[in-house]
Amino acid sequence: MTDAGATGAGVTVRTPAKVNLHLGVGHVRPDGFHPLDTVFHAISLYDDVTVSSGDPGSGPRVRVLGEAHVGLDEVPVDGDNLAHRAARLLGRSEGLAPDVLVEIHKSIPVAGGLAGGSADAAATLVALDRLWGTEVADVDLYRLAAELGSDVSFALLGGSARGTGRGEVLQRLTDHGSWWWVVVIAAEGLSTPAVYRRFDELFTTAPAKPSPGADVERALANGDPAALARALRNDLEPAALDLRPELDGLIHRGEAAGALRGLVSGSGPTCVFLCADAATARAVAGELQATEGPRGAHVLVATGPAAGAHRVTYDRPV
Ligand code: C5P
Repeated sequence: MTDAGATGAGVTVRTPAKVNLHLGVGHVRPDGFHPLDTVFHAISLYDDVTVSSGDPGSGPRVRVLGEAHVGLDEVPVDGDNLAHRAARLLGRSEGLAPDVLVEIHKSIPVAGGLAGGSADAAATLVALDRLWGTEVADVDLYRLAAELGSDVSFALLGGSARGTGRGEVLQRLTDHGSWWWVVVIAAEGLSTPAVYRRFDELFTTAPAKPSPGADVERALANGDPAALARALRNDLEPAALDLRPELDGLIHRGEAAGALRGLVSGSGPTCVFLCADAATARAVAGELQATEGPRGAHVLVATGPAAGAHRVTYDRPV
């Protein structure tokens, strides 16, 4: 359905899912957000967003396409959609009417802890900037991204990066690894605010300053899978496991199948399993498909680090 992208009438931008290799979470701030010290890592699971011009006065129109397991029914197509908000925000900032069609081809699950909505917002900013020829400076794109959500800036950047503030203050990290992940997408998503609320209930004395991920950063720089496996940490994991106790068994099954380490991705319920190499990842994915498939989960293999939002010009089959 990216025929518009192929003919030149539209622009298609691809953005990656993220996992948090370290997610240090501090005590909730007065604005309701939590201070984070995180290591973001982009993986090769992407949404493609194609934008094209719409009728004058139409405003943004959003269409969402993809396989059933990504939870398409849960994606709003109205003003609440992050891509819709991104189109309005860039239009306002550039003094242009956002009369555009935004087609989102989703592979990143909705409410999965992989920042799929943020990926779509980042892709929309980059694609519209190209469609409109506005040539917005990077510093301004990042400012707009931060306004849209905590993870949108990282979807622009990609690779591996330290995130502070509420996740929007980024510092690129040296990553000499070529990492293999098995990703298990649960049948039903989890609400990010609900997981943070549970975190607040469980950890009433969380420190104001979240813990940094120095060990993860070192393991990335050294490209050392065993060290990375030891260092992985997610402060939201107890809250996600409390809301979805069955994920605990899944993590154990993945590790028993040969993964170096499994953990909940961000606010969950997606779990990711670091594997030593491609062959192990495929074997672990096969075993988890056999046990999790019947429970309605979707299992795939991904690599990282992946590129941030970037233009693509091929014709994606529907
Ligand atoms: O910024 P974003 O819209 O992605 O955040 C979604 C929700 O996740 C927020 O409304 C908030 O409840 C929670 N959140 C948080 N602290 C952060 C990031 C997100 O509490 N640093």
